[in-house]
Amino acid sequence: MTTAVRTGAVGTGHVRVEGRDKVTGAARYAGEIPFAGLAHGWLVLSTVARGRITDIDSEPVLRMPGVLAVLDHRNALPLTTDYVGMLGTAPDPTCAVFQNDRVPHRGWPVALVVAETPEQAREAAEALAVSYTREPHDVGFDADRPDTRPADGHMPAVTDKGDLEAELAAGAVVLEAEYSTPEEHHNPMEPHAATARWEDGRLDVVDSNQGATWVVGELAQLFSLDPASVRVRSEHVGGGFGSKGVRAHQVAAVMAAAVLDRPVRVVLTRRQMFTLAGHRSPTVQRVRLAADADGRLRALDHRSLSRTSTVHEFVEPSAGVARVMYDADAHHTENRVVSLDVPTPTWMRAPGEAPGSFALECALDELAEKAGVDPVLLRLRNEPERGPVSGLPFAGRNLRACFELGARRFDWARRDPRPGRRRDGRWLLGTGTAAASFGAGAAPSTASVTAEADGSFTVRIAAADIGTGARTALTLVAADALDTAPDRVQVRLGDSAFGPAMIAGGSMGTRSWSWAITAAAAALRERLVPGQEIPPDGITVRADTTEAVAALAQKERHSFGAQFAEVAVDVATGEVRVRRMLGVFAAGRIVNPLTARGQFIGGMVWGISMALHEEAVRDPGHGGLVGADLAGYHVAAHADVPRLEAEWIEEPDPDDPAGGIKGIGEIGIVGAAAAIANAVWHATGVRHRALPIRPDRVL
Ligand code: MOS
Repeated sequence: MTTAVRTGAVGTGHVRVEGRDKVTGAARYAGEIPFAGLAHGWLVLSTVARGRITDIDSEPVLRMPGVLAVLDHRNALPLTTDYVGMLGTAPDPTCAVFQNDRVPHRGWPVALVVAETPEQAREAAEALAVSYTREPHDVGFDADRPDTRPADGHMPAVTDKGDLEAELAAGAVVLEAEYSTPEEHHNPMEPHAATARWEDGRLDVVDSNQGATWVVGELAQLFSLDPASVRVRSEHVGGGFGSKGVRAHQVAAVMAAAVLDRPVRVVLTRRQMFTLAGHRSPTVQRVRLAADADGRLRALDHRSLSRTSTVHEFVEPSAGVARVMYDADAHHTENRVVSLDVPTPTWMRAPGEAPGSFALECALDELAEKAGVDPVLLRLRNEPERGPVSGLPFAGRNLRACFELGARRFDWARRDPRPGRRRDGRWLLGTGTAAASFGAGAAPSTASVTAEADGSFTVRIAAADIGTGARTALTLVAADALDTAPDRVQVRLGDSAFGPAMIAGGSMGTRSWSWAITAAAAALRERLVPGQEIPPDGITVRADTTEAVAALAQKERHSFGAQFAEVAVDVATGEVRVRRMLGVFAAGRIVNPLTARGQFIGGMVWGISMALHEEAVRDPGHGGLVGADLAGYHVAAHADVPRLEAEWIEEPDPDDPAGGIKGIGEIGIVGAAAAIANAVWHATGVRHRALPIRPDRVL
């Protein structure tokens, strides 16, 4: 055993425990794990934007080399869809593949061709003739549509406090503006991939997902199986961003594996990911603010419209952010939605907060300009004592400290508030700021810890490391909880056999999983007696945090942050370059400073992308995307990413049973696009309320 005096592992930078495996290729991803007798499925997507399938001419394709089967609505296994899944929502029928002849959008999965090799499957899939009757489709998203409706129950963000019109009329300064954000796509580096295999009535799936428990639950429901007979593994995952839940390809792979009685792998192509992996809905957001002359808010009205498919409701809950950030005498928020002939959107990189903070934090900047109040000061003047809507105390709200430290580091005090004053050759320079917040929830998880005979420990939890460094963070948490060194702990994750656990999503993973691991470690330490002989298969203790999570004191628990950006704008070409950014965050206890910094900065890079690059353009004629690939859909590349700095302030919470850990997976993007847009205004004197801030819009 280690005898040297150790400081805690948590809080000390630690390289990724699986880093070497990843960079040497030893780490295997879902699409590259070998299986004996593996067959390959290729999805065929609809080429019409609405209608019905009239015929699928399988016969010629079935005679092609290596082709084993064509699955479609005529021979598919029936699936069950009337259930509520782990995340409290009904399944998106898009995932319940091949159940009828309806085509509700372009890119709808209509068939799976299975063959001996991926090349044979692809060739046959491309040769498969599918006939349709077309119906008129509608993908036109705009705020003036008459058929918008309030969001359904699972995205509540209706606040209706005070007399809005009276407070708007009484304000010394009033701001009313409309902001829009485009359709955006996740594009994780690793494409979605699943391999399914049936053995003795048991289903075994190797997959790339954000939560094995989640995928087990959905597959068990869809195929009417006992969840105990389903195992999902996802040891390494190359990014998710919200897109890696249960999707059509996993279900198709499971179905094909059942029909053919051999393992079947289905991988999405980069292009298919643009219709089958979910996306972020475009938004149109209307913000009305009124304040006293000193900037104190009297009225806050934030209404957001997003878009969903005709088969499933997913709402981008952009109006929710105001419910946490600011109070006002009259406080109104609402999310609305409209159903169009498009794929169903889903969670993507701070769903709600990312587009919502763009609108709200730009509006506050505009209000600050009108009031003649510094934008940092305006926010500090509106810091609420308690949750503006919930009335609950905050479990740490150190936004003020974030702004104070950030302003100092960014040299904000020297900023001339007037726009268009700074120049560097052909570039106009400006700086901007915005606030950020993201929820820090926890969900029940189970973990086990084994004391091994050699003195080391093995932790098992169905967590997912989607590239965030979760495995490493949990290693540090476990090391401290076991009072041992990180190299004595092996964390195994990504396997549903380890028991139910929260997904890597909602910035809730590390908090939820750490809690369960800490509880299991504490229970194990009580079991162990000094000098005790450990049997060859070790001593294992499990913990389940279901009751502890339910008993957690009701508080507004969020991470907060202050974003600062400096941009240069070439008014001759319309080019906007971010020159530097600083994010200062208050995000609870930071487990691994090395990977935490990577997550904050990664989020800020998404923010640059959102502000300046990302935009999926839907063609109203054919109902699909223009340029559905990484050549046509731009994300920030290295040359777009300048000097980025992320810092954080200490925010201990000794009373928190989850160790004071909050989520950091998403907050980095929140407010980042607003800070950049506000900096573009400061550089040029022109407000840009539509993202992305493309050169043609700047000109
Ligand atoms: Mo995140 S959008 O909750 O995966």
